[in-house]
Amino acid sequence: MRAREISVPVGNAKKKANSVPKLEDGFAQQDIISVSQFSRENLEHIFAVAEDMRAIVKKQGSTDLLRGSVLACLFYEPSTRTSSSFIAAMSRLGGTIIPITQGVQFSSVSKGESLPDTIRTLESYADVIVIRHPEMGSAQMAADCARKPIINGGDGVGEHPTQALLDMFTIKEELGRIDGLNVGMVGDLRYGRTVHSLARLLCLYDVQFDFVSPEILRLPLDVMNDIRDHGLPVAETYDVADIIEDVDVLYVTRVQKERFADLAQYEEVRDQYVITPELMAHAKDKMVVMHPLPRVGEISNDVDADPRAAYFRQMENGMYVRMALLAAVLGKV
Ligand code: CP
Repeated sequence: MRAREISVPVGNAKKKANSVPKLEDGFAQQDIISVSQFSRENLEHIFAVAEDMRAIVKKQGSTDLLRGSVLACLFYEPSTRTSSSFIAAMSRLGGTIIPITQGVQFSSVSKGESLPDTIRTLESYADVIVIRHPEMGSAQMAADCARKPIINGGDGVGEHPTQALLDMFTIKEELGRIDGLNVGMVGDLRYGRTVHSLARLLCLYDVQFDFVSPEILRLPLDVMNDIRDHGLPVAETYDVADIIEDVDVLYVTRVQKERFADLAQYEEVRDQYVITPELMAHAKDKMVVMHPLPRVGEISNDVDADPRAAYFRQMENGMYVRMALLAAVLGKV
């Protein structure tokens, strides 16, 4: 029985300031700021190239496709997967890296340099820039002042479009399709930018959503309204047991301590959801558990050996998808 339920009727050239253009003419020299830019055709192209990239890496480790190209990685927030998979992706494509990923305190940002000046500097040296920043809208701001392509590696509580690409690729690889799936999302749906991007991207497909969160971490209204506008079925509950039997994808997220102004509120909700083997005993035989990672206890380590636990394969897929995206943005595929 669901705690509460919402019924929803079924129903290029760079640059233009303050815009997020669709990728109708392809990816070459375009910014990647929001999942709202993608069509199904764009996704299918990236997925096909990502499969090719995986085959190349498995067979020979690397290729010269982007030899001579330079990627600047500008990370104002901590990252392991996004930063290192972009670095690995560019390296395996034969390009080189400017890594500002170990803390901007070692760059001139610590001397008070503005974001626009930092972007102008890096684009003098690099062909494409990946930025992660704690403020929503920062990637767009960077794109507005850049001549070179900007890729959003996560902007505060806003979006994480490349994570959504690799999440979608993983769903397709694991389950063979996206249309017709029931997708459950669990945890911090309010501040979780991976959730916001993935939910919006899934709206290109015929899916139904089950959202599980504490009251204070419910999905933002603007994301919910986007789902409503697409006429897709959506339900909300407080208890993951309500949905575990039904879902094809269980997308688990960390409750993000760093997003809470009031730490007492964080303590109240931090351990509310833990995916365990006992819970997984009620899930379908053919389904997947995903997580953007890092996890801090919301999936028990005992679940890792379950073949339905896809989060480490998901993480690996990030490199192949980012190889595809870099090659596409630099006009090679
Ligand atoms: N999924 C993700 O964005 O991980 P990192 O924070 O380690 O980059």
